[in-house]
Amino acid sequence: MCEIIFSRIFLGFPLLLWIAGGPTHAACPIELNPLTLVVRYGDSVSVNCSTTSIDYEGMGWEATLGGTALKEVNYVIWNVENLTDWTIQPVCYLTQKDGEQCLKKFPVILYKTPGSVSVSPQSHSGPMVEGTEYQLQCDIQNVAPLRSLVVKWYKGNETVKTETFHNSTRIPVDVFSTLNITPRRFEDEVKYRCEAELDLGPKGPLASVLSSQTLHFAVYFPPQNILELRDTEVDVGSPTGLNCSSDGNPRPEYSWTYHRAPNVKLRNNDGGSLLTIEQTTGENIGNYTCHASNTLGKVFKIARVSVRGAEPVCPIKLIPESVVVKYGSPISVSCRNTTSVEEIYWTTGPEVVNDTTWSVLELLDWDIRPGCKATFQGIGRCSKPLHITVYKTPDSVSISVLRHSGPMVEGTKYQLQCDIQNIAPLQNLVVKWYKGNEPLDNVTYNTVSKTPVDVSDTLMISPSRDDDGAQYRCRAELDLGPEGPQHTVTSEPLSITVHYKPCINASRLPVRIPVFRGYPEELVCEAEGYPQPRIKWVYDPAKHVSEAGGNLTVFEAGLYNCTATNIVETSFIVVEVVLNEDYLPLIAGFVAFMVVVISVIFVFIYSIYYKNTKMGRYSLKKAKLSSTPNGNVAQNGGRDTPLPMTKLSQPNINF
Ligand SMILES: *[C@@H]1O[C@H](CO)[C@@H](O)[C@H](O)[C@H]1NC(C)=O
Ligand SMILES: *[C@@H]1O[C@H](CO)[C@@H](O)[C@H](O)[C@H]1NC(C)=O
Ligand SMILES: *[C@@H]1O[C@H](CO)[C@@H](O)[C@H](O)[C@H]1NC(C)=O
Ligand SMILES: *[C@@H]1O[C@H](CO)[C@@H](O)[C@H](O)[C@H]1NC(C)=O
Ligand SMILES: *[C@@H]1O[C@H](CO)[C@@H](O)[C@H](O)[C@H]1NC(C)=O
Ligand SMILES: *[C@@H]1O[C@H](CO)[C@@H](O)[C@H](O)[C@H]1NC(C)=O
Ligand SMILES: *[C@@H]1O[C@H](CO)[C@@H](O)[C@H](O)[C@H]1NC(C)=O
Ligand SMILES: *[C@@H]1O[C@H](CO)[C@@H](O)[C@H](O)[C@H]1NC(C)=O
Ligand SMILES: *[C@@H]1O[C@H](CO)[C@@H](O)[C@H](O)[C@H]1NC(C)=O
Ligand SMILES: *[C@@H]1O[C@H](CO)[C@@H](O)[C@H](O)[C@H]1NC(C)=O
Ligand SMILES: *[C@@H]1O[C@H](CO)[C@@H](O)[C@H](O)[C@H]1NC(C)=O
Ligand SMILES: *[C@@H]1O[C@H](CO)[C@@H](O)[C@H](O)[C@H]1NC(C)=O
Repeated sequence: MCEIIFSRIFLGFPLLLWIAGGPTHAACPIELNPLTLVVRYGDSVSVNCSTTSIDYEGMGWEATLGGTALKEVNYVIWNVENLTDWTIQPVCYLTQKDGEQCLKKFPVILYKTPGSVSVSPQSHSGPMVEGTEYQLQCDIQNVAPLRSLVVKWYKGNETVKTETFHNSTRIPVDVFSTLNITPRRFEDEVKYRCEAELDLGPKGPLASVLSSQTLHFAVYFPPQNILELRDTEVDVGSPTGLNCSSDGNPRPEYSWTYHRAPNVKLRNNDGGSLLTIEQTTGENIGNYTCHASNTLGKVFKIARVSVRGAEPVCPIKLIPESVVVKYGSPISVSCRNTTSVEEIYWTTGPEVVNDTTWSVLELLDWDIRPGCKATFQGIGRCSKPLHITVYKTPDSVSISVLRHSGPMVEGTKYQLQCDIQNIAPLQNLVVKWYKGNEPLDNVTYNTVSKTPVDVSDTLMISPSRDDDGAQYRCRAELDLGPEGPQHTVTSEPLSITVHYKPCINASRLPVRIPVFRGYPEELVCEAEGYPQPRIKWVYDPAKHVSEAGGNLTVFEAGLYNCTATNIVETSFIVVEVVLNEDYLPLIAGFVAFMVVVISVIFVFIYSIYYKNTKMGRYSLKKAKLSSTPNGNVAQNGGRDTPLPMTKLSQPNINF
């Protein structure tokens, strides 16, 4: 195209420029003023081409715009009002008189500041994710010349990249520059932009800089830590709150779960990080998990809530709370929620009863473990077992004596046994022992047995004679709690006979008895015992005795052995009978003799006195009479055996 234009222009001139060889000759006497120009596209230009030669023939400008014809002048002006040819290459030429022709190219740079500079993420829109590499692109439109373009990237106010272009094209082009970035969290605070600058050299206009808009973008990152959340301890009834906070972009969403129901989200303040409990109860005890999540990830942390003065509870109400049921009887228990429930049902071990009431027409399971389970909003899953006691009254209760039959003997130990058959549950059994109506012992069992068992309990007794004919009984009681039914079964009474050994009444039978020669003595042997003892006297058969029942009349000294025998034992007391001489007559004779002696002395003294004083007429006879009763004092001198009065009255006193 250019060549065509040139050919066309050159057609008007006889001389062919290009054929002249080298385009410029060092000696070509042409001066250009200015030497070069940097012109904005569309601006005007004016260049004075003059020659110092004097033998010139003519001068002219050859250009696609503003070219001139060969003129016979020593300067020629190239003037364009509106320079709009990007590829323009004006040439000033000179023809000398000798026909020599030379020329000078005028270097002109057309420029155009960019139409627009804009920055945008490459093949991406929306927020960026931490740690991922992205490309930002700076688009510069309609700029020329490209080789003068300098693109600068800024992160904040800091230059991070400078790019230049080496394409020599002169026409305006659209170019772009890219920047690779790997954003980190919080870099959404950082601003990216690019600048396009045309560096047109010292001759050019003042550096014209065009900046892109500033690029803001969000940097997303997953939550990594949960802060603030701490274990709390609170008094029952007080409010408390769990505060959970996390970083993360976008802002994490928070949710709370309770350990009993890890899959149930607790209601909290509009998805906020705060979980508040207005009034803490035992239901709030436990571990709470705060979950913080955003589109990129999630974290969780557990905090424990302790409530001082409360026990963890499950808000299930069983009606009734506990049951005592006879084996084979019907039962019906219902289960209610005291707070909002999501699911509630019964289980009896492996079996699930999907109902709030559990009822059985005939309970035939000794070891049934029913419970109500529920999932509550805000509390989670929990269950409440039903306290159930399945009982059975005993088939029989009987009492017996162990390893013994027949009457008992006082002082010996015996064992009574109470047999209780087929009773359940063992741990509720109380065996009570009675003698008559007097309670003796209560026995309880610590062994847990839910199924029916046979139980034997023994009681050690050591009966006394007073217990003869006593009636022993044992009673099996099922202690099923205050509201439970009272069930007692009492055995038939067991009457006992108590034998005891004979006991001889020692107070009637002294071990030593004196007897006066010639007088009989009766020995009374009485014995108590059960059965009634048999009394038998054992003595020398040569002795003269008479026996009547337990009484033995003896006449002679000797050993007399009273034995009392029953089936329990034989006991005896040996009585020693000693012969006593009767000293009473001797004493009486001695007393009489003394009376006579004293009387004689008295009479003798009186007679002397009487002779001397010739006084008194006392009767000696009266004094003699007053001494007579003194003889009776000797009556008491004998042993406790009374002396027969007839004996004393006989005055057979011998000296
Ligand atoms: C061009 O240059 C010549 C030589 O320097 C001068 O004489 C002439 O006046 C100039 N022309 C213009 C229009 O400046
Ligand atoms: C220069 O030329 C262009 C295209 O030919 C035209 O659009 C523009 O208006 C002109 N400018 C002046 C100052 O004459
Ligand atoms: C960038 O700007 C900050 C304040 O906005 C300034 O403190 C800092 O010196 C600046 N850095 C550069 C390289 O200009
Ligand atoms: C210069 O840019 C132009 C237009 O974009 C293109 O056609 C040409 O191939 C490029 N030249 C070089 C050497 O890059
Ligand atoms: C929860 O923690 C955040 C972050 O520290 C704090 O701004 C806020 O005030 C706390 N809320 C309560 C109720 O303590
Ligand atoms: C609650 O968490 C603590 C540790 O923080 C743990 O020892 C305890 O067993 C947990 N309790 C429950 C009911 O999960
Ligand atoms: C028990 O749960 C039901 C929903 O299953 C609810 O309608 C009822 O109010 C709850 N009862 C109480 C006392 O909150
Ligand atoms: C109980 O029945 C209800 C509907 O009748 C059902 O939605 C629920 O899943 C059942 N629960 C169980 C544990 O079977
Ligand atoms: C046994 O229990 C009864 C009440 O059931 C009580 O009166 C009695 O004193 C108790 N006996 C003994 C020995 O504990
Ligand atoms: C023994 O005999 C005395 C006198 O007869 C009598 O008072 C007492 O009660 C008797 N003792 C016994 C145990 O029978
Ligand atoms: C034995 O003697 C006692 C007292 O003297 C008397 O009561 C009792 O009847 C006598 N017994 C016999 C069998 O004679
Ligand atoms: C008394 O008689 C009993 C029974 O016959 C006898 O065992 C006991 O030894 C006798 N006592 C004396 C001292 O002889």
